[in-house]
Amino acid sequence: IKKITTETLRKMKFDKEKITMLTAYDFTTAKMVDAGGVDAILVGDSASNVMAGFETTLPITLDHMIYHAQCVVRGVDRALVVVDLPFGSYQSNPEKALESSVRIMKESQAHAIKLEGGSEVEESIRKIVNAGIPVMGHLGLTPQSIFQFGTYKVRAKEDEEAEKLLKDAKLLEELGCFALVLEKIPAALAKKVSESISIPTIGIGAGPDCDGQVLVYHDMVGMNQGFSPKFLRRYLDLYTEITGAVSEFVKDVKAVDFPNEKESY
Ligand code: KIV
Ligand code: NA
Repeated sequence: IKKITTETLRKMKFDKEKITMLTAYDFTTAKMVDAGGVDAILVGDSASNVMAGFETTLPITLDHMIYHAQCVVRGVDRALVVVDLPFGSYQSNPEKALESSVRIMKESQAHAIKLEGGSEVEESIRKIVNAGIPVMGHLGLTPQSIFQFGTYKVRAKEDEEAEKLLKDAKLLEELGCFALVLEKIPAALAKKVSESISIPTIGIGAGPDCDGQVLVYHDMVGMNQGFSPKFLRRYLDLYTEITGAVSEFVKDVKAVDFPNEKESY
């Protein structure tokens, strides 16, 4: 199997081949997502919501992220594995940002880290890239800043924020990021950003002109019933499938239909 590298993704943008990324947080899921053929797997801090049941991404710790990353790496043969730096492990502290990134790379053997923000995290990105660690950026709706935003609505609809985003995207490229996520921004702005930089953009709620697309695995397989933003396409309705299977099991056991003779020793 030919492993995907940051260079592969760069070349895909050059060749105008779309890049695919999904999240995974555990071994079994990572194996399926890798077998399905995505180019990159994101061990997102969305694990805070999806795995741990928190309201936001803020509570998840670096130790938790490393545990999820270790589990994912053991299941992946082909995809590039990218791990989110969690809230509090890098902001406003370049030394700490480098330390956190080194821990992720050493302890999980993932291939790259991702962090949120533009000029605010410039020094951190510089340090991490200088250490030889590939960095993915993340602009637009950056969920670790939710209490500053106050809402999960579309970002950068106004000129001022859009201009800062475009500047930040160019800065991230200059700093040596190998790609960047654009989350929940107008499609026209995402197109403009994607055309203005040579590193790939990977969109979520950012229209069709990004160089790639990312979704949260649990959302795209329909495990999260309550979450249905307009950008989400559900490929399965696993919530219904799984609760249905569970209630069948309950029914069969109560009826002493399971296990039957063939299922017994
Ligand atoms: O944590 C995450 O799942 C993410 C994606 C939504 C890009 O950052
Ligand atoms: Na994230």
